[in-house]
Amino acid sequence: MTLTEEIEKLKKEKDAVILAHYYVRPEVQEVADYIGDSFYLSKVAAGLKQKTIVFCGVFFMGESAKILSPDKTVLMPDMTADCPMAHMADAETIEKMREQYEDLAVVCYINSTAELKTHSDVCVTSSNAVKIVKALPNKNIFFIPDRNLAHFISELVPEKNFIFNDGFCPTHERMDLEEVMKEKEAHPNAQVLSHPECPKEILDVSDYIGSTSGIINYATESVEKEFIVCTEEGVIYKLQQNNPDKKFYFPETVPVCPNMKKNTLEKVKHVLLTGENEVHVSDEVRRLSKASLEKMHELAG
Ligand code: 13P
Ligand code: SF4
Repeated sequence: MTLTEEIEKLKKEKDAVILAHYYVRPEVQEVADYIGDSFYLSKVAAGLKQKTIVFCGVFFMGESAKILSPDKTVLMPDMTADCPMAHMADAETIEKMREQYEDLAVVCYINSTAELKTHSDVCVTSSNAVKIVKALPNKNIFFIPDRNLAHFISELVPEKNFIFNDGFCPTHERMDLEEVMKEKEAHPNAQVLSHPECPKEILDVSDYIGSTSGIINYATESVEKEFIVCTEEGVIYKLQQNNPDKKFYFPETVPVCPNMKKNTLEKVKHVLLTGENEVHVSDEVRRLSKASLEKMHELAG
């Protein structure tokens, strides 16, 4: 039996379902029952019938699944697969901002720890942040942790006063303008598709800016045939599957998220077999962080 066949068999035996983010290895995406961006996966996680969820992504994703589905067993193939940006804000600063600004909403990118979510009013992802921030009644927005996404949203919602936090994604922050321009020179007809976690100078030369599924959908629906992709290279699996006739290029320093890549087929099989690496969230943290995730689902529609 191949590893993939063993995993399929174990899924049935253990009443388990596999969720995978677009950044994980192609062979892991292949065994997944649901693949998507972080908003889609959080919606899926909230409504599954299986007893066990194996979350192939990074820790905040498994944690959010557990918060939204506390009765499920949530397993991570690798407990050290963590998003560094999820820790790049702190509760003290949030509480200081609340004292300093009246009429403040703390808007928390889903790439954050459950602890940070407990101090926030609403969660967002890159696919729904504009809609949610616009819908909030508050004038002042403290956006944590990502400064690049915050600046991008602030330009699209100029009626709000944004207070910025200094977090960033190391993988997207490394995106280099010169490298992108070199690709543009080599492929003059190619459109630049970027994730809003990229620095502003990359977004300024982009034809489309959106979440991972936004990028995949844009390229799939476009009449154009060539694209320069400024996000983590894992999206190539779905891009090529959907668009065998189109060409995709990455900057020379190919963007890789080392944490997403910790998810391997061997580890998926191991956690299915042993039940190891279960995600736990205390009742108190769950109760307080659930509100911000549920508000996101309510406002995003
Ligand atoms: P998406 O919500 O676009 O999938 O992004 C998640 C992420 O971690 C981007 O780095
Ligand atoms: Fe976090 Fe960046 Fe990896 Fe996304 S790509 S999970 S933001 S480190």
